[in-house]
Amino acid sequence: MSATIDDQKRASGEAAAALVETGMVVGLGTGSTAAWFVKAVAARGLDIVGVPTSVATAELAASLGIRLAELGQVKSIDLTVDGADEIGPALSLIKGGGAALLREKLVWEASKRCVVIADAAKRVKLLGQFPLPIEVVAFGHETTALRICDALAECDLGVAPRLRLKDGAPVKTDGGNLIYDAACGRIEEPALLAAALKSVTGVVDHGLFLDLADLALVGTPDGVVTIEP
Ligand code: A5P
Repeated sequence: MSATIDDQKRASGEAAAALVETGMVVGLGTGSTAAWFVKAVAARGLDIVGVPTSVATAELAASLGIRLAELGQVKSIDLTVDGADEIGPALSLIKGGGAALLREKLVWEASKRCVVIADAAKRVKLLGQFPLPIEVVAFGHETTALRICDALAECDLGVAPRLRLKDGAPVKTDGGNLIYDAACGRIEEPALLAAALKSVTGVVDHGLFLDLADLALVGTPDGVVTIEP
């Protein structure tokens, strides 16, 4: 029987858990694939400290007995393992489908090594099919959205970002911000787009993770494949 998407996520999470060693400070990602990693790490019973990237991950890890610390309480992070919505060329990523992109990026950037885990469907030749999440402060967000439109247009992307809703209400991040999703389609120049979005006042961050991943462990129907940038 061929591996389902969930089997692939689980296999990638378990492969990443094998990289964890006793005494490490480990960044714990967010999402369904990262949850498999957290469960597999907990099952190994190692003495580690986890730095969670969301309230949901903190709750899961604590329920499994993993000792936790806040980002600001650790000197550095040895290894962070996290999922992705798209894995493009040179391990460029789109993240934030679970609205945790800001805390994820803060933890990734504080890490000596970052490993992305995913199922095979996340691999793409060009980023952009998955709508790019953009986290904005709530104050004046409608005005910020217009500035985001201008930034997208500068990058030849004629799309309007859409406020992310759940049950008719705006989705709030763990930090109390809002998420806009931009259905770019094709992101030919991710670095240019990243810079343009960061220059907009009111944008806290975006889901482009460039030059951050050191390794990908991708679950496929034929087993876990290792990809380097
Ligand atoms: C959370 O904000 C995201 O960055 C997730 O890591 C991403 O959406 C992948 O989620 P799944 O592992 O559930 O596909």
